[in-house]
Amino acid sequence: MDKLAMHGGPKAKTGPYGEGKRFVGKELQYLQEALEQNTLFYWYGEKVKAFTARFAGMYGMKHCVATSSGTASLHVALGALGITAGDEVITSPITDMGSVIGILFQNAIPVFADLDPRTYNMDPASIEAKITDKTRAIVVVHLTGNPADMDSIMEIARRRGVKVVEDCAQSYECFYKGRRAGTIGDVGCFSLNDFKHISAGDGGMVVMNDEELYKKALRFADKNYDRLTTDPAAMRKISYLAPNYRMTELQGAVALAQLDRLEWICAQRNAYGDALTAGISGLPGILPHVVKPGNKSSYWFYMLRIDEAELGATREQFSEALAAEGVPSTPGYIPTCVYEYDLFKNKNAYPGTDCPWGCKHYGREIEYKKGLCPTAEEILRTAVRLDVNEFFTKQDLDETIAGVRKVAAHFRAQRAQ
Ligand SMILES: Cc1ncc(COP(=O)(O)O)c(C=O)c1O
Repeated sequence: MDKLAMHGGPKAKTGPYGEGKRFVGKELQYLQEALEQNTLFYWYGEKVKAFTARFAGMYGMKHCVATSSGTASLHVALGALGITAGDEVITSPITDMGSVIGILFQNAIPVFADLDPRTYNMDPASIEAKITDKTRAIVVVHLTGNPADMDSIMEIARRRGVKVVEDCAQSYECFYKGRRAGTIGDVGCFSLNDFKHISAGDGGMVVMNDEELYKKALRFADKNYDRLTTDPAAMRKISYLAPNYRMTELQGAVALAQLDRLEWICAQRNAYGDALTAGISGLPGILPHVVKPGNKSSYWFYMLRIDEAELGATREQFSEALAAEGVPSTPGYIPTCVYEYDLFKNKNAYPGTDCPWGCKHYGREIEYKKGLCPTAEEILRTAVRLDVNEFFTKQDLDETIAGVRKVAAHFRAQRAQ
């Protein structure tokens, strides 16, 4: 067996991972055109309009509303759906804060459902168990580009009269049984932050087919102003609170150009991630990232899990040995489940108050504490994250697989002794 690099053997990875430039298409041209319009306001310019029309078209959706971030897109979706004080919204405990920020800003109550141990997506049975007469929506997070079990989730949601928002911030070109994630629930939300498949620095989109929902989303992203009316007084007929989450023409210009490469980026990542799974399957103690049959992931990142007893090493030892091989990895993802963050443990969303939990419109008790979602906690305890990038090469793939296999074989052999 090959000697580990950390013991003086040759490294599995013989050179740096592939890199490339992300903004080398029509970005500059579109930015210049945006500036020459003499306005950067989305309602007067053409870039945000062209971008939303094109994205809606790519996704086969009737409408798309542009926003200033993915977090904003999720808040807009909830606002447009009428989520308000005292409502419960079910979501995932392994996600970005962006999935829960909008819930809290609507003074609604986040409720966390447990996850599938291998896809890291929300478990429909756990969702159903968390539904109460206060539940108004489910924010389904398609984690890392891998689709959640949408047939089961939609069946539960329709039967229980609950709306479905798809959080696709990590999941462009993510297919559930041939359908794009973001087109299956009532609303789909996307992020253009700089770490996502495509970037406009920051930005987001909300897609939907329902005309009324579209009009509400358009207003909710823009101070509740009605831009569709030509009567200035009617435009400012404000009946409830909404933020300003407008996308600028500068973001729209970059986002429009980025769409040219979206399919290529996701195809590259899909091929890399699936090949990684094929290359590291069947190794005792290594649990590859599962994409269910019939689905397609665009691998925002790759997250395997370690069975420490089976492997004979902690994930920290595994990750350290892998790093010495020239294959960087990160133990875990977010540090704890979201409900273990101080904000939730101390119910301190609006400092110095117990809002929204103490709101008279809620009138229930809910506890956020360790043990709430045991599978999610176990995922975070045993996960190892590997980077995926559209610029990675076949050699990067082969050497990464070789690194994982070599390190896993070493620990297994050691365990047998
Ligand atoms: C799953 C998920 N939801 C929401 C967001 C929020 O997106 P943004 O950073 O664009 O506000 C992110 C961003 O990391 C995310 O990963």
